[in-house]
Amino acid sequence: MTAKIVLFGATGYTGARTAEAMTRRGLAPVLAGRDPARLATVAERLGGLPTATADASDPASVRSLIGAGDVLVSTVGPFAERGGPAVAAAVDAGAVYLDSTGEPPFIREVFERHGPEAERTGAALLPAFGNDYVPGVLAGAMALTEAGVATASVHVGYFLVGGRGGQPFSKGTLRSLAGVLLEPMYAWRDGSLHDEPAGLRMREFAVAGKDRPAATIGAVEQFALPRLAATGVAPRLREVDVYLGWFGPATKAVHLGSKITPFLARTEPLARAVNALAGLAVRRASEEPSAAALASSTSYFVAEASGASGQRLASVTLTAPDPYAITADLLAWAAGHAAEHGVTGTGALDPVAAFGLDTLRAGAAEAGIVPAHNP
Ligand SMILES: NC(=O)c1ccc[n+]([C@@H]2O[C@H](COP(=O)([O-])OP(=O)(O)OC[C@H]3O[C@@H](n4cnc5c(N)ncnc54)[C@H](OP(=O)(O)O)[C@@H]3O)[C@@H](O)[C@H]2O)c1
Repeated sequence: MTAKIVLFGATGYTGARTAEAMTRRGLAPVLAGRDPARLATVAERLGGLPTATADASDPASVRSLIGAGDVLVSTVGPFAERGGPAVAAAVDAGAVYLDSTGEPPFIREVFERHGPEAERTGAALLPAFGNDYVPGVLAGAMALTEAGVATASVHVGYFLVGGRGGQPFSKGTLRSLAGVLLEPMYAWRDGSLHDEPAGLRMREFAVAGKDRPAATIGAVEQFALPRLAATGVAPRLREVDVYLGWFGPATKAVHLGSKITPFLARTEPLARAVNALAGLAVRRASEEPSAAALASSTSYFVAEASGASGQRLASVTLTAPDPYAITADLLAWAAGHAAEHGVTGTGALDPVAAFGLDTLRAGAAEAGIVPAHNP
């Protein structure tokens, strides 16, 4: 029997797009959120889906949405502030949990704190199942598998090319970004995770005919690729880095800024000033990304596997349409697959561990994430 799917956050920009992607796949999720009138509007537009009211500030209401074996998809952000109750509900119920977070501290919390709890209850937790960070995990796993036992490092880069005609991010994304500006991030070196500010390392990747700069970020790859390597694929893996190449020439400033991030975070008046500036930028942003900017942008995800002396062993480039389209499609695909077939394992899982590389590759292709020619 197919499990129930609940979509928490269905009234938001990403949530509504995910609801549409689910109905396109023939799924009939329960649309959940805090505002019954707005839920009814989305439900009606999509042909009369069931709805349920729950508020992240009332954890019992979120818990009442699901039972054992159900699939809970959350797009309620910022996750650092509002994401905890949905994870706790899934852990308590023994459900499958998927979310749209891109916030590194939240991802780390799911893997390090909630994962062990979920193993005890039989829940499966899959954070960041969207543009950030499924395609990079997939590209990284493909490069790692191709390069094999000699692999010492994998570097993954995320790029958005083109994008004319306005703001390419939703206000919800900018709000989440502002919330993690001064938070500690992480890097994976020699068998464990280390604290490290975002942007500390910088390098260039060759993407779509140009060398493009990118700076480091905490992601899912730092959890996923070492796990895959440890299954015997690449026992000598020592380094996993993830780079964001979304900032173009401003990447250098992001990199230099990382050197003072710990100082800013510790210095109360400066931290307040940075947060106030970020808050101002968020307030000025429009609610939804510009459709023209999204339509004219192409994403590239590059993974390079190298040996101990830095020699390139394998390189994989994937490409996809806009980040919100693939986030909605990935969440819809994963929820449908999990509802019908379940996932492999319990605890905090990464996309490769939960679905297997071949199934994930097929699911990603359905979302439009496909190999690119990147000479
Ligand atoms: N990883 C990725 O690649 C990726 C891609 C897209 C989005 N995201 C992330 O997904 C999140 C959502 O983005 P968005 O653009 O959809 O933002 P949004 O349009 O602001 O949507 C936020 C949703 O959260 C709901 N919400 C807020 N507070 C709530 C509460 N206390 N209880 C229940 N629901 C509550 C809102 O409900 P109301 O309608 O009632 O306000 C709305 O449905 C952000 O964190 C964003 O960064 C990540």
